[in-house]
Amino acid sequence: MSHLSLNFNNLNNFIPEKSSILPSIQSCHEMLERGDGPGSDFLGWMQPTVNLAEIEMVAKSLRDQCEVFIVIGIGGSYIGAQAGLTFLKSSFPNQLDKEGGPDIYFAGQNISSDYHSDLMDLISGHDVCVNVISKSGTTTEPAIAFRFFKELIEKKYGTDGAKNRIVITTDASKGALNQLAAEKGYRKFVIPDDIGGRFSVLSPVGLLPMAVAGIDIGKVIAGALKGKELYSCPSVEENDAYRYAGFRHLLYQKGMTTEIFATFQPAFHHFSEWWKQLGGESEGKDGKGIFPATVEFATDLHSMGQWIQEGQRTIFETFLLIEKSNRQLKIPTSKNDADGLNYLAGKTLDHVNNKAYEAAALAHKEGGVPNLSITIKDRSPEALGQLFYFFERAVAMTGYLNGVNPFDQPGVEFYKNNMFKLLNKPGY
Ligand code: PA5
Repeated sequence: MSHLSLNFNNLNNFIPEKSSILPSIQSCHEMLERGDGPGSDFLGWMQPTVNLAEIEMVAKSLRDQCEVFIVIGIGGSYIGAQAGLTFLKSSFPNQLDKEGGPDIYFAGQNISSDYHSDLMDLISGHDVCVNVISKSGTTTEPAIAFRFFKELIEKKYGTDGAKNRIVITTDASKGALNQLAAEKGYRKFVIPDDIGGRFSVLSPVGLLPMAVAGIDIGKVIAGALKGKELYSCPSVEENDAYRYAGFRHLLYQKGMTTEIFATFQPAFHHFSEWWKQLGGESEGKDGKGIFPATVEFATDLHSMGQWIQEGQRTIFETFLLIEKSNRQLKIPTSKNDADGLNYLAGKTLDHVNNKAYEAAALAHKEGGVPNLSITIKDRSPEALGQLFYFFERAVAMTGYLNGVNPFDQPGVEFYKNNMFKLLNKPGY
């Protein structure tokens, strides 16, 4: 059973010539399946298979010994895990919610002195474990953060005690983290050679932090495998990931160069960030690419809603919706109806939220913004796994349709190398 459904009705008048794209999708599909297109050394994500037992075992030992778990990484090395946590855990996971295992914080995704000082203050006096994640093992931001937390852990537990509290996730053999793991005896997970950072959420990169948070990663992978079954299908009519990719490409060709990813749930906040990274880094190259932007409604209906309704007509909108929240809140009846809300008494917040979606989708369509919606059944690990796979497949397809290699990131490397030079890193 699929956990996702798509609705393209609000695209109807915007893309009359849909059939023109079918042969291109077919040939890009074959390229993906044969593994002979640009960047084909990085197609490992297409088979989401992983040693779950090993990840679960290490996650259990970390959960048992720490009150605070710090995940250090940047880009594809942290955002998928954060997306999973925000999607599946309580809206306030680190505050008073003690049933869910250790509090989890992220570090090394910025170079802010205040952020890292505040985090170190916050966790002082608590039992800490760290997972540092970097495929290259040389990225400056997480490397600096790791130095701080390694020192903190070694001071507190000694170099021997640190062995049980630090886990490294990195390349099989390259990079500084490998050397450290060997020298210090830290436990290590390997990021497979054929999986790039932003496609790595269904590897130990995303799965270990999720397992430490108490998420059933077996169910996440089961959802991803469902995604693989559905979105490897060559027939475009039956493959929603390819239909979504095809529409994105057609809209882009018509001059709609920005895609607004709109959600109505704070639980999707980091998922949107993950989506933005996946699209931005995979598609934005060679002077091409859909610009991925995100908004969170209803909040942004009261700010960006104006721009979307009446600004420059170069945008299309993708709504990510949920059929059923985890819990239902009904609006209470008030005796004197002083706030005039009794017409909503007995209605659920889901009902009102859904009307906000319908209102926005209709208004934006009438304002000249083509839109489509992706609805997931619930906030389950299976739905999350399928959703990850859906977007990975769709972004790979859109990249190929736009004629770029979706699996490299030469622009990001530019910045990384410039920074090494400016910081006088030896050898640069
Ligand atoms: O998708 C990517 O490749 C990037 O976003 C990387 O994940 C990011 O730059 C971090 O790189 P690394 O894991 O090598 O530290």
